[in-house]
Amino acid sequence: MRSWCVRVPRDRGESVRKKLLELGLLDHALKIRSEDGSVLIPILAPGTGELAEEFGSELRLEDFEERKVQERDYRKAVKVPSELANLLPSSYDVVGDVAVIRLPPELLPFKSEIGNAMMATFPRLRTVALDRGVRGTLRIRDLEIIAGENDTSTTQVEYGLRFKVDLSRMYFNPRLGSERMRIASLVRKGEVIIDMFAGVGPFSFMIAKYAQPERVYAIDLNKDAIDSLKANMIMNHIHKVVPMLGDAREIIKSLPPADRIIMNLPHSAHEFFEDALSRLKPGGTLHMYFVAGKLGAADFVETLKREARETSVGVTVTRCEELKTYSPTTSVFSLDLLLAHGV
Ligand SMILES: C[S@@+](CC[C@H](N)C(=O)[O-])C[C@H]1O[C@@H](n2cnc3c(N)ncnc32)[C@H](O)[C@@H]1O
Repeated sequence: MRSWCVRVPRDRGESVRKKLLELGLLDHALKIRSEDGSVLIPILAPGTGELAEEFGSELRLEDFEERKVQERDYRKAVKVPSELANLLPSSYDVVGDVAVIRLPPELLPFKSEIGNAMMATFPRLRTVALDRGVRGTLRIRDLEIIAGENDTSTTQVEYGLRFKVDLSRMYFNPRLGSERMRIASLVRKGEVIIDMFAGVGPFSFMIAKYAQPERVYAIDLNKDAIDSLKANMIMNHIHKVVPMLGDAREIIKSLPPADRIIMNLPHSAHEFFEDALSRLKPGGTLHMYFVAGKLGAADFVETLKREARETSVGVTVTRCEELKTYSPTTSVFSLDLLLAHGV
C-alpha cells in the first residue's frame, strides 16, 4: 500500500521512529522497511505543513506491506453468565488513557467486572467509563466510571497534535481523525475558515498544522471547551486559530466571508444552514455532518438544495458519504457542498 514515510539513514532510524511514535504519527498498520542503508518509516499524515518543515526532503511516498495486527480481546478476561457473553461489545473508544464503552442493559449488573477486565487486558488504561449517551446542546457525554481512577481528563494524541480534554465536560470523538485530515488536505493556501462548532478544536488544529490557512475562526458555546482549546493552542504552538466563545449563529455575522465552513453538529447543523451560507464566499465549500436514516441521506440533500434555492443561491453537492453508524437505523453522513459563483 502507498503511504507517506520518512526516509532516514539506518543509524537515525530508531530515534526518528520513537519521535514519530511520541507525536502519534507512526502508522502501526504498515511495516517499516530498509532500502540501501536507509530505513523507511510509514506515517499517518501527508508530507505537508509542519511535517515538511521538520523532515524536509526526507519525506516521500513509497509502497509498504500491511502488518497483521494481533488485537488483544478483553472479552476473554470477563466472567459473565455464558448466555450473556455474546452481548459483550467488541468495540469501544479510547481517548488518551480513558476507555469509553457502551453496554446493553443486560450487562449493566456486570459493569465493574467488564471495566476491570479491560484494565487488566490493556495496562496503559487509567480509567474505564460507561457511556450513557451524549446529551444537550453542548453534546456532553454522560459518563460513569466503572474501573480505575475517578477522573475523565486525559490527553489524546492525533496526527501529532495533543488535545487535553475532560470527557465529562466537553465533546471529543477519537474516531474522526482521518475525516479531519481529509478536510485539512482540501484546504488551499490563504483560505479563511470558520469552524462553527469547534469543541476543543480538532478540525481547526488539523487545518492549522497541515495546511496553510490565513485564519481559522473556531467557535463554540461551551466555555470549558474553549478554555481547553486555548490551552491546547499553547501546547501545540498553533497560531492561526482564533477561539470564539458563544453562539455560532450570532458570532458568524461578525466574521469575514469564508472560503470554507465546517459544521460538525450532526443533530442540528441543518438549523444553521442559512447562517452558514450567508457567510460563505461564492465558490466556497461547506462541510456539513448530519444524522439520517441509512437510506435518508438523499432526501436530506434535496431539502438543503431546495432551501438554498429559496434563499436565491445555487449549491452543488460534491460528495456525500456515510461516515459512521449512529444507531441500528441511522448513520452520520459527511457532506461537501459548493456555493455557486452566481445565480
Ligand atoms: C459534535 S460537537 C463537535 C466538536 C468538534 N468539532 C469535534 O470534532 O470534536 C458539537 C459542538 O458544538 C457546540 N455547539 C452546540 N451548539 C452551538 C452553537 N449554537 N454555537 C456554537 N457551538 C455550539 C457544542 O458545545 C459542541 O462542542
